[in-house]
Amino acid sequence: MSTLPPRFGIWALVHGSRAALQDPDEPYDASWARNKTLVFEAERLGYDSVLVAQHTINPHNPDFDQLEAWSASAALAALTERIEIIAAIKPYLYHPVVLAKMAQQIEHISGGRFAINLVNAWNRPELERAGIGFAEHDARYAYGREWITVVDSLLRGERTRFRGEHFNVDDYLLRPADPFRSRPRIYVGGESEPARELVADMGDVWFINGQPLDAVKTLIADVSGRKRPTPHEPLRFGLSAFVIARESGEAADQHLAHLFALAAKDAPLREQQKSNIDPKAVMFQTFAQTPRVGSNGGTAAGLVGSYDTVAQRIADFHRAGIELFMLQFQPFETDMRIFAEEVIPRVRRLLG
Ligand SMILES: Cc1cc2nc3c(=O)[nH]c(=O)nc-3n(C[C@H](O)[C@H](O)[C@H](O)COP(=O)(O)O)c2cc1C
Repeated sequence: MSTLPPRFGIWALVHGSRAALQDPDEPYDASWARNKTLVFEAERLGYDSVLVAQHTINPHNPDFDQLEAWSASAALAALTERIEIIAAIKPYLYHPVVLAKMAQQIEHISGGRFAINLVNAWNRPELERAGIGFAEHDARYAYGREWITVVDSLLRGERTRFRGEHFNVDDYLLRPADPFRSRPRIYVGGESEPARELVADMGDVWFINGQPLDAVKTLIADVSGRKRPTPHEPLRFGLSAFVIARESGEAADQHLAHLFALAAKDAPLREQQKSNIDPKAVMFQTFAQTPRVGSNGGTAAGLVGSYDTVAQRIADFHRAGIELFMLQFQPFETDMRIFAEEVIPRVRRLLG
């Protein structure tokens, strides 16, 4: 059981709709204007967090619009007041010194509400076509480990010296230091063995992709059993999930069937996308086990049903150790509001 109260977050719509791209009720829109309004509304409704995924080119189709994570996060930090802003980062795209400086600045702009989500990439063309190259799965994690070691030290305001295989940082110090806490929070997304080791050693929160409760319990048991370096607090856990909550279970199932039918229209696009995916990315192997809509596990977490059912399942996940629920909806704005009004109060009642 997480000793912390549950928190609820939303995935920003950085590449449009999460379940199906051709939805008459939610025309494709990954614009800044939409995301800004969405995050304002989420904050007003009481959501605690927003996750801004990072992709320089749209992972579904490079011709589609894509919101840029770091500049958008800086703007969101300036415009919002309370919500946590988590920006994803793929280490190969930025030198750690530059990224740490950017993160530190957004931490200041937000007044101590910024976090990074370290992710180690799966979309080959994004890095290959930039000429950066796409290293093998575990080599990417080794690079990411060096990278976050440098970033962590700089964010803590330490005078940093690092000699590694990839980075050679000498006597580097970033100022002003973080006046709010020791450093911005570090989330890690990824399910493979090196991802688990990395989060146990360097992370504050492990993001688990949407999957059934028993699988989540097994993952939590594995990672929380790992040794952590002494200065770290106990690891926390976040779960990504796609929610369909309706007055009745039948109405929720109907909407799920509707989204499956719409998602089928994207099949050619998904087929094309398959060749871009690193076959060693464990995450995609997990996704293949359960039919679902939504990204990052989506409905595989089972948060589809009546308001009471969805609240009950969230309470069960929370008792299993999930602290942060990072949610997707479609149509996003409408269902995000329904969830805030109908489900969150029920969860709070269930958890007393
Ligand atoms: C919650 C979560 C968020 C993610 N966000 C991104 C992202 O913003 N950009 C990206 O390219 N990959 C993202 N990923 C995917 C990771 O980059 C990585 O490819 C994936 O986790 C596979 O690693 P694994 O083999 O360790 O499972 C995310 C993964 C998770 C779990």
